[in-house]
Amino acid sequence: MRPERGGAKRLCVPALRLAALVLWGVLSAGALNNGLAKTPTMGWLHWERFMCNVNCREQPDACISEELFMKMADVMVSDGWKDAGYEYLCIDDCWMAPRRDSNGRLQADPVRFPGGIPRLADYVHSKGLKLGIYADVGNKTCAGYPGSFGFYDIDAQTFANWGVDLLKFDGCYCDSVDHLIDGYKYMSLALNKTGRSIVYSCEWPLYVWPFRKPNYKEIQQYCNHWRNFADVYDSWQSIKKILDWTSSNQEEIIGVAGPGAWNDPDMLVIGNFGLSWDQQITQMALWAIMAAPLLMSNDLRNISPQARALLQNKDVIAINQDPLGKQGYQLRKENNIQVWERPLSNLAWALAMVNQQEMGGPQLYGISVDSLGKGVACNPSCSITQILPVKRKLGIFAWTSSLKAEINPTGTVLFLLEITQKT
Ligand code: GLA
Repeated sequence: MRPERGGAKRLCVPALRLAALVLWGVLSAGALNNGLAKTPTMGWLHWERFMCNVNCREQPDACISEELFMKMADVMVSDGWKDAGYEYLCIDDCWMAPRRDSNGRLQADPVRFPGGIPRLADYVHSKGLKLGIYADVGNKTCAGYPGSFGFYDIDAQTFANWGVDLLKFDGCYCDSVDHLIDGYKYMSLALNKTGRSIVYSCEWPLYVWPFRKPNYKEIQQYCNHWRNFADVYDSWQSIKKILDWTSSNQEEIIGVAGPGAWNDPDMLVIGNFGLSWDQQITQMALWAIMAAPLLMSNDLRNISPQARALLQNKDVIAINQDPLGKQGYQLRKENNIQVWERPLSNLAWALAMVNQQEMGGPQLYGISVDSLGKGVACNPSCSITQILPVKRKLGIFAWTSSLKAEINPTGTVLFLLEITQKT
């Protein structure tokens, strides 16, 4: 199912259209200006939990079908997800019929989606939610369904006609990296041309990295968010790798993030099988620090109250959704302790201490507050609240003091620092 980059000989963008694309690129030098994703997208995406399960006969509750999404929409409303901010219900790969219709349009699998995507979109909208869909820039999707190559305009218009609100555009089965880049740009143009507001979620840099350094300035002009690194798995190793990749490349990627344009470290897997409680806290806290889209992939019909409370934690979501829209970064790494911080609006800062030592008990770690938030977060003093694992007001800290915490192995302690004005 992984991308195949060789093989196909056709270009991803017909040559004639390239001229139009280049012209458009010149005319629209600013950031992707579709007015969407001013804060990181929040919602649910089926891939990590349900993958390409098309076996509705034997697993009717877990196969990719209209029913799965309708039920998830119901629960998103009844169980507080929508109220917490999770708005986009997103379909990933494997929703399509194996062939386009006689007019060249994509169609949903008729057995698994008997009402087609329009009926599902209506249902999702009637619940006050938005619908996301998946397609691919190349000749096939990663799971082998029809790709959008040669059909970008038709597909963009089809999605708009159906009432789709977000497109995740994957990068499998494209014959060259240049054609992949052109295809991503072309689809951005095609979506804009439809006049419908459609969040554009790209995997462009992920597929470019094996060949060269992606041009993030350009990516940010065309996409609302973009995947940089390998698919998330339901495991601590996977979360750790994503965090390591992000901190190693932070110089490259954090500056381009901002309202309308986000780095996407992939789905939240909280509430599944593979992460301990502390590891789930780490994912939630660090996805907030990274200003990441919060796209859960879990079974909302069957999730523990603890995982639900973590995913719906208002204070963490407020950090993630902070309107300043600046992505946080790793400030320091000492032995197995990592310190991350993120500037927030109103001169506040979020701070996370992560313990990556997978041995022993909780580690005590202290940091002088004058080293936080570029030296200004606590000058002359600040009020510090611990947000995770549990909320606790810690009081006022003078800039000469230090902040200490005990951090569980593979866990995180998340704080909010709010400056106290000089009297
Ligand atoms: C790629 C993407 C995943 C998912 C699958 C679907 O691997 O990175 O997020 O969309 O394809 O096949």
